[in-house]
Amino acid sequence: MRNMRKTIVELLKNAGDNFVSGENIAGSLGISRTAVWKHIQKLRECGYEILSRERSGYKLKDAPDLLLPSEIQIGLDTEIIGKEMHYFPSTDSTNHTAKALAYHGAADGAIVVAEEQTGGKGRLNRNFYSPRGKGIWFSIIMRPKFLPHDAPKCTLMAAVAVAEAMNRFNLKAAIKWPNDIMFDGRKLVGILTEITAEMGKITYVVIGIGINVNINREEFPKELQNVAASLSEINGGEISRVKFLRAVLEEFDKLYGEINDSGFDGVINRWKKYNITLGKNIRVISAGDGGAIFTGKAVDLNADGALIVETGNELRTVYAGDVSIR
Ligand code: BTN
Repeated sequence: MRNMRKTIVELLKNAGDNFVSGENIAGSLGISRTAVWKHIQKLRECGYEILSRERSGYKLKDAPDLLLPSEIQIGLDTEIIGKEMHYFPSTDSTNHTAKALAYHGAADGAIVVAEEQTGGKGRLNRNFYSPRGKGIWFSIIMRPKFLPHDAPKCTLMAAVAVAEAMNRFNLKAAIKWPNDIMFDGRKLVGILTEITAEMGKITYVVIGIGINVNINREEFPKELQNVAASLSEINGGEISRVKFLRAVLEEFDKLYGEINDSGFDGVINRWKKYNITLGKNIRVISAGDGGAIFTGKAVDLNADGALIVETGNELRTVYAGDVSIR
């Protein structure tokens, strides 16, 4: 059903300013003209403005600014990522939904996208603010061949994918370890990776990515105004969520191909290029290590993606936690 609607939108988009006859659409899809009309009605309900004229057929006047599969997947140049897409006007958390879908067999590379999350989750049990239509709240399901201990590197990979997508839009990306993309000391993008594994084998990884796209500073709740930022703020104007999501999926897809062929070294090098943590004096709140809090200098990222911090004459390895740059 969904695929039919996607094809109809594609036919209408390709026709540009011209009408496409109902007969033509029906012929391309192998369905009746009445069935075409029903799909057109559904598309209208989703926000597509479609003109219909007797004897001429249908013409697309305007597409909605929604992250619908019929918008994202048209022209999406990926091998694996986003071929299967689950769209929700609203969900509690796309990570939560993605885990349920993965459990029921969703494919490698499937994505779950929502216009809003009512219970968006951040790392370390925090909430993640995810208002309707203002950002890109989505999760990618991966069924990779690598071992569970490599899974945290998927987070670095996701951060690099978003950074490279930002490059395409001439926006400068700054990654704070392990996974936050920052602007002016405030967070633009957060990433939450969750893994399900059994006996040394990954069943699936869910990578949740939250991108603040078109949120003005004063639109954030008061308590977030000094810690959150949005792409539109750097851009100096709104950004198409559809185009930005497509760019992230394409960059992620390239990296996924690369790590499957040759491992994570390239990802880690690119992460280093974008990072703003290495070389800085930082304060660490580690998630393991009994929640130890300490200060030191971030000196390197090891091959596992863990942060190496120099404290006095000791080197500490931080696998999970939060850092603030001093
Ligand atoms: C963080 O910065 O602490 C991580 C935030 C991750 C937010 C994304 S939004 C899509 C996905 N669904 C969630 O509930 N969380 C992630």
